[in-house]
Amino acid sequence: MDIEQLLYCFILLIADFHRISCLFVTDINVPEIVDFRDNVTLSCSYDMSGHTLNSVKWYKDKQEFFRYSPMMHPVYMKFPVAGVQVQDGKYFCNESTCRVDLSLVGAKSTGTYECEVSGDAPHFKLAAKGDNMTVAALPQSDPLIDSFNSMYRMEELLSATCTSDYSSLPTRLTWFINAEQASLGELQPSIDTSIPAHDYVLRRQKLQVRFYLSGPRFYHAGKNLELKCVAEIENFPELKRETSLTAAITHYDNLNNQMLIHAGSGASGAAPGIHQHIPASKVIPILFVICLMFSSMLLSL
Ligand SMILES: *[C@@H]1O[C@H](CO)[C@@H](O)[C@H](O)[C@H]1NC(C)=O
Ligand SMILES: *[C@@H]1O[C@H](CO)[C@@H](O)[C@H](O)[C@H]1NC(C)=O
Ligand SMILES: *[C@@H]1O[C@H](CO)[C@@H](O)[C@H](O)[C@H]1NC(C)=O
Repeated sequence: MDIEQLLYCFILLIADFHRISCLFVTDINVPEIVDFRDNVTLSCSYDMSGHTLNSVKWYKDKQEFFRYSPMMHPVYMKFPVAGVQVQDGKYFCNESTCRVDLSLVGAKSTGTYECEVSGDAPHFKLAAKGDNMTVAALPQSDPLIDSFNSMYRMEELLSATCTSDYSSLPTRLTWFINAEQASLGELQPSIDTSIPAHDYVLRRQKLQVRFYLSGPRFYHAGKNLELKCVAEIENFPELKRETSLTAAITHYDNLNNQMLIHAGSGASGAAPGIHQHIPASKVIPILFVICLMFSSMLLSL
């Protein structure tokens, strides 16, 4: 109940001592943002406070599209309004609540939806409440990360691309490297693609991150690297979607030590191609030979 309604009620009370009641629309439920492929339910609750319900009317942008009048025949009526399709038989109203299910017809369904309740004669008091609904083409999937490997070496150049799903609302992509936002220097200019579809211009953004795995932020981060891509839509934080992937970071020294241990015990498990990094000068010749045999064995697999 808002102040205006209370004030109005108060004035009515003073003017009419015999009726100590007022009617109110206590709640209205109109989704703020929906995808054009969805169906929506609009609902409205009211407090008749002793009045008899005369009618409940639903409007889109001031045009009536649905009416419930329990004392009339027919009880339910639909009116054609652009952008609104009340689903057959999918509505229900009584003395305290009124609900209608709509199927959407794209951008034309965007608008202000209002529920208006009126009481019986002789007073015919009116109460109304409305809310805006935006019908858009919303992303249907999380952003995609491409060309990301499951293992990287220290000092290696990493580049990965994030692509958002098509949407009629502008999407903003952000990269996070081990939970820290990527700096501008680590980002390539973003590439936007747009296609017209379903009355909308759908846009998709691609953003590449490129950086060297060097410096304390990776040494201190332990063995793992987490890359996260976040796709956000302005003004609608609830539509945020994200994807994150992790990779192992290997250090040269650790790798070499592992190679020696593995070579000695004959165990496998190291990735192929590692043999290139063995500093031959530091290795005892016999171990080196075993190592070479081991790696050629790995390569022939
Ligand atoms: C919307 O409602 C129609 C009719 O009831 C149904 O055929 C359709 O599958 C529904 N769409 C969604 C996305 O639920
Ligand atoms: C109206 O319908 C709702 C939902 O079915 C129900 O919870 C409520 O009790 C009904 N109110 C009256 C006054 O019949
Ligand atoms: C609905 O949108 C209109 C303009 O598009 C705005 O003036 C109005 O304040 C909005 N109403 C609500 C309840 O947000």
